[in-house]
Amino acid sequence: MGFYERRILAPMLDWAMQQTPIPRERENLIPRAHGKVLEIGIGSGLNLSYYGDVESVTGVDPSEALGEKAQARAGEVDFPVHFKQITAETLPLDNASFDCAVITWTLCSIPDPKAALMEVRRVLKPEGELLFVEHGHAPDADVVKWQDRLNTFWPKIAGGCNLNRKIDKIIESADFRIEELDAGYRPGARPMSYMYHGLARPI
Ligand SMILES: C[S@@+](CC[C@H](N)C(=O)[O-])C[C@H]1O[C@@H](n2cnc3c(N)ncnc32)[C@H](O)[C@@H]1O
Repeated sequence: MGFYERRILAPMLDWAMQQTPIPRERENLIPRAHGKVLEIGIGSGLNLSYYGDVESVTGVDPSEALGEKAQARAGEVDFPVHFKQITAETLPLDNASFDCAVITWTLCSIPDPKAALMEVRRVLKPEGELLFVEHGHAPDADVVKWQDRLNTFWPKIAGGCNLNRKIDKIIESADFRIEELDAGYRPGARPMSYMYHGLARPI
């Protein structure tokens, strides 16, 4: 692990992911998780304290530096947390083995988000739920123009984060049906603050 990832990127992401309006989004989403939970892109474990009555959480993330922070946070919760330091595009997990999957501000960064979601679909039980909150492609042409411009360099400085992904389309492309969607601008710079918050189920 390089100096940049450990000393700059990981602390920066850990800080950024605690800023307004992110905690409020977590508060409204994460307590809905239930049973055996798979969290894709668990990062520094900032969702952990928001889980309610869950059996266990399995967190997938390739970042060793963020994983160390997540392990420290896992020591403060009263359910088992299992870590897998891997990318989500290929999951070494059994078919239909999770009740719920959670993904927060991560579909922007996964190189192949459709492949990752197809894996999530495979490991979710047929009646399972995908809870998501992500930022992405805005509905307004002037904002999209800025998202596209900024995206020429943004992934390089923000850990691979893309500003202009059509989150709802990506979720649907992996054979999920979106059953709840609260999409809209949240406080903050408009190119970064159009959120997709909702629930989807395998088709
Ligand atoms: C902006 S952070 C969000 C972290 C966390 N979900 C949260 O809500 O604070 C994006 C996360 O995506 C993870 N990530 C990047 N590529 C990934 C991949 N291929 N599979 C799984 N996670 C990935 C990063 O390591 C990072 O932890």
